[in-house]
Amino acid sequence: EFGSKNDFWLFGYGSLIWKPPPHYDQRIPGYIEGYVRRFWQASEDHRGTPSAPGRVVTLITREHWSTLPDPHPTAPSRVWGVAYHIPTQHVNEVRNYLDIREINGYSIQFTPFHPTPSSPISTHITSDPTSFPPSPSPNNPSTGIQISTTISAAAVPITCLVYIGLPSNPQFAGPQDVDDLAKHILRSKGPSGENREYLFLLERGLQELGSESSDEHVRDLAARCRELERDEEVERGVEGMT
Ligand code: BEZ
Repeated sequence: EFGSKNDFWLFGYGSLIWKPPPHYDQRIPGYIEGYVRRFWQASEDHRGTPSAPGRVVTLITREHWSTLPDPHPTAPSRVWGVAYHIPTQHVNEVRNYLDIREINGYSIQFTPFHPTPSSPISTHITSDPTSFPPSPSPNNPSTGIQISTTISAAAVPITCLVYIGLPSNPQFAGPQDVDDLAKHILRSKGPSGENREYLFLLERGLQELGSESSDEHVRDLAARCRELERDEEVERGVEGMT
């Protein structure tokens, strides 16, 4: 199937890392280049509400990012995430699902995806059945786990669809003081749950992709949120004693 006209690969750099799309039959860790991941997209429908939007990640082109006053002044040259392969017969259904799930300000772009260099290219790539709930696949209808897949080196990089909240969209929040951003995440919640859960799941998801995939912006925000949570607990404890 790889390389066929209707091949559909989707790159996830946010919630898709731990919440896969339906019907995928391959999940491959790797990276894209030329972008910077930031918690600069307002979320009115998942981790916030229209009157109190939360903050989720978007990608900014490095070129545009270099013109912005970012309190986190450096960013890795690679944005790590996962690519999902959607079998041809499910492409329309999944595109509709994603457009409904993710449309809040995001646009579609296509970008080259590089499978993690330690992935065996031209040999076998095996999906990990332990970390992520697989969806049923034609290969194995009961578990959805594709046992192995051959990807030829000639087919790499893989062109992937990616959802990007462009700076021109109304949900683009832009740079913000890091402590203010951490506090904003701590107080936000929406239909998908607490905003902090999204941040912590992203931090963990990136750790699970490998040693190279950490992202200082995500790591620092998560550390600040944990520290603020501890401060809150201490304050509550003190109040409880008085
Ligand atoms: C992602 O996980 O990559 C993602 C999900 C929804 C919108 C944008 C990106």
